[in-house]
Amino acid sequence: MTATFRSSQTVSALDPSKPHIVLVGLSGSGKSTVGALVAQKLGRTFLDFDAEIERREGMPIVQIFGERGEAGFRLLEHKLTEELKDLGNMVLAPGGGWIADASNVSILRPPAVFVYLRVRPETALKRLTGVAGGRPLLNRPDPLGELTKLFEARRGAYQASDHEIGAELLTPQQVTDQIVAKVSGK
Ligand code: S3P
Repeated sequence: MTATFRSSQTVSALDPSKPHIVLVGLSGSGKSTVGALVAQKLGRTFLDFDAEIERREGMPIVQIFGERGEAGFRLLEHKLTEELKDLGNMVLAPGGGWIADASNVSILRPPAVFVYLRVRPETALKRLTGVAGGRPLLNRPDPLGELTKLFEARRGAYQASDHEIGAELLTPQQVTDQIVAKVSGK
């Protein structure tokens, strides 16, 4: 199978002997911004799941949810995950709800290394101001209530990561430096 992840910036060869680094956390925790920086720093290829799914389907996530429901979107996430199983050496940023399906996690881990970017729902929502509309699960009358519920439901799965970073008060560059140090065993 030839995998094409055209939304990603290919920097280095995919190498199954080097486990993927997977950034997990709520919407607004910084996965996409930090993921690109970590990939740059480590000379790896970065893949943002939502961007890749939008590219493949030719429509925004909101429209995918609208036309196929959340279940349709989750299926696309799962299929993309399967394509990544036998590859390696990438930095992956799946959407915040990807972790809720334990089968996604077990496709990649072991050997993938998971890093949880921890922020409170309040902070995550502040960061999403103006762009929360692109997140169908938050495009509701009480987005903070919704995000808090999602956080409570997913917290255990996020915390089962190999590394956890309190990303609340840090800049993307600081979070990046911490991740690079942790995954390099420094
Ligand atoms: C979702 C998070 C989004 C996106 C979709 C569902 C979730 O990704 O995958 O809107 O269930 O939390 P981000 O975490 O990149 O916002």
